[in-house]
Amino acid sequence: MIKSNRNREEETEFDFENRIVSSSEIAEDYEQELSLRPKDLAGYVGQEKVKEKLKISMEAAKMRGEALDHILLHGPPGLGKTTLATIIASEMGVNIRVTSGPAIEKQGVLAALLTNLKPMDILFIDEIHRLPRQVEEILYPAMEDYNLDIIMGKGPSARNIRLPLPPFTLIGATTRAGQLSSPLRDRFGSDYRLDLYNKNELADIICRSSEILGVNTKAEGAYEIAKRSRGTPRIANRLLKRVRDYAQVKGDGIITEKLAIEALNMLEVDELGLDMTDRKMLSAIIKFFGGGPVGLDTLAAAIGEEPITLEDVYEPYLMQLGYINRTPRGRCATRGAYEHLGLEYPENKEKERPSLNENLFENGK
Ligand SMILES: Nc1ncnc2c1ncn2[C@@H]1O[C@H](COP(=O)(O)OP(=O)(O)OP(=O)(O)O)[C@@H](O)[C@H]1O
Ligand SMILES: [Mg+2]
Repeated sequence: MIKSNRNREEETEFDFENRIVSSSEIAEDYEQELSLRPKDLAGYVGQEKVKEKLKISMEAAKMRGEALDHILLHGPPGLGKTTLATIIASEMGVNIRVTSGPAIEKQGVLAALLTNLKPMDILFIDEIHRLPRQVEEILYPAMEDYNLDIIMGKGPSARNIRLPLPPFTLIGATTRAGQLSSPLRDRFGSDYRLDLYNKNELADIICRSSEILGVNTKAEGAYEIAKRSRGTPRIANRLLKRVRDYAQVKGDGIITEKLAIEALNMLEVDELGLDMTDRKMLSAIIKFFGGGPVGLDTLAAAIGEEPITLEDVYEPYLMQLGYINRTPRGRCATRGAYEHLGLEYPENKEKERPSLNENLFENGK
């Protein structure tokens, strides 16, 4: 079961390699990724609540001379989890070892990583929800009392060995906090959720990146790109680079509002950041299924995508815009979706199909 999920996830990553508004990392992001990544908390835009709490725990840990409490960072792709982990390490003045759940196949791999840590070091495990169960088990005592429990040998001669570890901080990152086992989740001292960024924050990120890339971006130009970045810094940086190319070839290199609109229209990213597939999904629900409800699998088959892709890649942003509702009977398009596509919303629709809340209320009586 776990294995088949993984395969599906890998396929998802593969399918969306080149989608310009994908929030996952695509090949063109590697270039300049490092230089665009903020290196300290001051350069890390937004997420004010998380930053505030973090500053306090970092300050307190420094005052006590202890390792920082273990931290879980969760939230959709491209919001800055990896970036934040590296910033924490540099603010604390410690080393960071970076690995990921699927890379730690055996207990021995994790044991080697843990025993090589220096006091106060940070171990960063990306995609921690994909850590194999038996590996996860040796993390429990390591996180709780800095001990490594390993079994040497087999059968009657097997011995349990306990090795002390230096005090360290585990930072786990995940896009799917719901898939984390509860014993693991409970062992994190702090659990931070990163939220989608608002347009002003994204515009700040775009201005900051423009400076690093040496691009002349006007405030209105940055705001136009921000509007279409789906609340995600990774997408904002990617769109900025594409608009910069357009400005060099078609204009004088300066990103004005007008030029940004032209470039983004050419890239078929609409004023809300929706691309062709988003619009295809909305119009399929409306045109083929009368606005829903339609089951995820049926919908996926109708537009030729994998159900998991629709669920992970498209739905979160469409739901955040309020264009799709998830009900127990399937997905429904909302009035906003009809309006966005320039279609008329059938007024008798609400009476025809009771909403989820009404259903629950009736059943609960
Ligand atoms: N708060 C921020 N301020 C400025 N830039 C940011 C911020 N957050 C993210 N970025 C930019 O977005 C890019 C993607 O961020 P990052 O790789 O940290 O995301 P992630 O949450 O780890 O994504 P994934 O889930 O795919 O691993 C970074 O290279 C950085 O340039
Ligand atoms: Mg990451």
